[in-house]
Amino acid sequence: MLRTHTCGELRLADVNKQVTLAGWVQRQRDKGSVLWIDLRDRYGITQLIFEEGKTDAALFSVARGAGREYVLQVEGTVVERLSKNDKIATGEVEVKVSKLTILNTAKLPPFTIEDETDGGDDLRMKYRYLDLRRNPVREKLQLRHKMAQQTRAYLDGQEFIEVETPVLIKSTPEGARDFVVPSRIHHGEFYALPQSPQTFKQLLMVSGFDRYYQIVKCFRDEDLRADRQPEFTQIDCEMAFITQEDILNTFEGLVRHLFKNVKGIELPSVPRMFYDDAMKLYGSDKPDTRFDMKFVEITELTKGKNFPVFESAELVVGINAKGCSEYTRKQIDELTEYVKRPQVGAKGLVYLQYRTDGTLKSSVDKFYTPEELKAWAVKFNAQPGDLILLLAGESYTTRKQLNELRLLMGEKLGLRDKSKFSALWVIDFPLLEWNEETKRYHAMHHPFTSPKIEDLHLLDTDPGKVRANAYDMVINGTEVGGGSIRIHDRPTQQLMFNHLGFTEEEAKKQFGFLMDAFEFGAPPHGGIAFGFDRLCSIFGGVDSIRDFIAFPKNNAGKDVMIDSPSPISDEQLKELALTVKK
Ligand code: AMO
Repeated sequence: MLRTHTCGELRLADVNKQVTLAGWVQRQRDKGSVLWIDLRDRYGITQLIFEEGKTDAALFSVARGAGREYVLQVEGTVVERLSKNDKIATGEVEVKVSKLTILNTAKLPPFTIEDETDGGDDLRMKYRYLDLRRNPVREKLQLRHKMAQQTRAYLDGQEFIEVETPVLIKSTPEGARDFVVPSRIHHGEFYALPQSPQTFKQLLMVSGFDRYYQIVKCFRDEDLRADRQPEFTQIDCEMAFITQEDILNTFEGLVRHLFKNVKGIELPSVPRMFYDDAMKLYGSDKPDTRFDMKFVEITELTKGKNFPVFESAELVVGINAKGCSEYTRKQIDELTEYVKRPQVGAKGLVYLQYRTDGTLKSSVDKFYTPEELKAWAVKFNAQPGDLILLLAGESYTTRKQLNELRLLMGEKLGLRDKSKFSALWVIDFPLLEWNEETKRYHAMHHPFTSPKIEDLHLLDTDPGKVRANAYDMVINGTEVGGGSIRIHDRPTQQLMFNHLGFTEEEAKKQFGFLMDAFEFGAPPHGGIAFGFDRLCSIFGGVDSIRDFIAFPKNNAGKDVMIDSPSPISDEQLKELALTVKK
């Protein structure tokens, strides 16, 4: 090895030891007769000292020439520092250097390799390998590593077998677009990259593997967001001979194991909420339950008073922002502007201030008497000091809009603390979802999800009302995982495909292999997949999953470091029998 110790290792107890270190120059301080170099590696920083008169003159001058990010190997003696630095673990000692080898020189980095860097996003992405030298970035990948280790430890302890499934496959309909790979041997034919290993893990259940998992790359050609990347990683799992209850318990176990072993947090048992309740109480299928602020409906109390907005509304619903009654006109205007943004889409906002002096003031005073407004306040269980914010309109859209406002108020009131964790199972999702664009029902989770038997009779009359044995795990308002109990017999699977608008022929062509497999003794089975990057980002208390991926794509889906995607050569195009408009 080129070193005896790492740069994070030496302590007072090592004084007088002869050591060899290797690492990068973090910074130099040149006081003329004394020169210090901070040498950095993944483990920490050790101060090197060179002194005129004591250090060999030639060595001194080589040291002075070692610029930022040069790679050095040094030999020397550990000595106690005169002025100690209690901010770093090695701060009580330094190394008096007797030999220095420059292992490599370095150009001046395009941004500072410090915890707080001066580099913008684009620059750091272009030189991601330099960004990865910075502590906060490296620490996030170390967290990811620990999460993966602990995931394997838990699942291994539960008899899960890790199996790799192929990456060059045929499209799996998870709702996003596929990335496709042209075949050279079969011109005009394409592989698809998996959006998830869904069908393969189900086949492994037919094969009798019983408990499968894989920490696996998935690919989805969809619009990017802070919590979405075109290639991302799942902890993908499947179990046979189980009920939904078994799955919820097993994977609640995984999440609690991770909190305990990665963060040292004892997560309480994970509560469950029906999808319908989540939508009614929070206007979202992934409510942030770190704070309460549940929706209260007052439609009935508002009718018959000639306020046109409420009169025509299917739903009048609001939240109680505790302690906000003294918001100024300007602050309330800002909230109104927020809900009127096209991304939220509300027409306006009605407020009721329950002032600290006990009086009520609202934006609809003209239409409602103080007694009527008092009845609203009672419904909200409001106290003096509270601010009630109301939206009105068509039920589904209004709830969605109020969800945005609730999250904003939670943020403003400091209720979305990233060091607090609130996990939730949302269960009994609808089986189907109406799609306005295609004017037909789509599977809300995926077409392999089993409907609740007791709802099957609704499939022809009221398909949107059929519930599925499907569940999501939500942490702090982010969907971190989702899964379902699967269909495991051919007739039901065929019935599902019919309802999703597949002809028998299409279903056979795309999923014949799975339906065939179901005829060879498929056990009852179900599973779940966690978004591993998302789970890591929540554990790390950061919104964007990008920081937890070593080499992520930027907001435009590009890797600007390797310049991908990029054109391919004419020869490659020819071999693949592809033509590209230039
Ligand atoms: P689903 O599509 O819900 O289920 O995906 C599972 C989890 O993967 C994460 N996720 C993503 N993370 C980052 N970037 C993306 N583009 C992205 N898309 C999804 C989410 C999500 O909860 N085969 C089923 C699982 C099953 O039924 O077992 C599936 O893939 O955290």
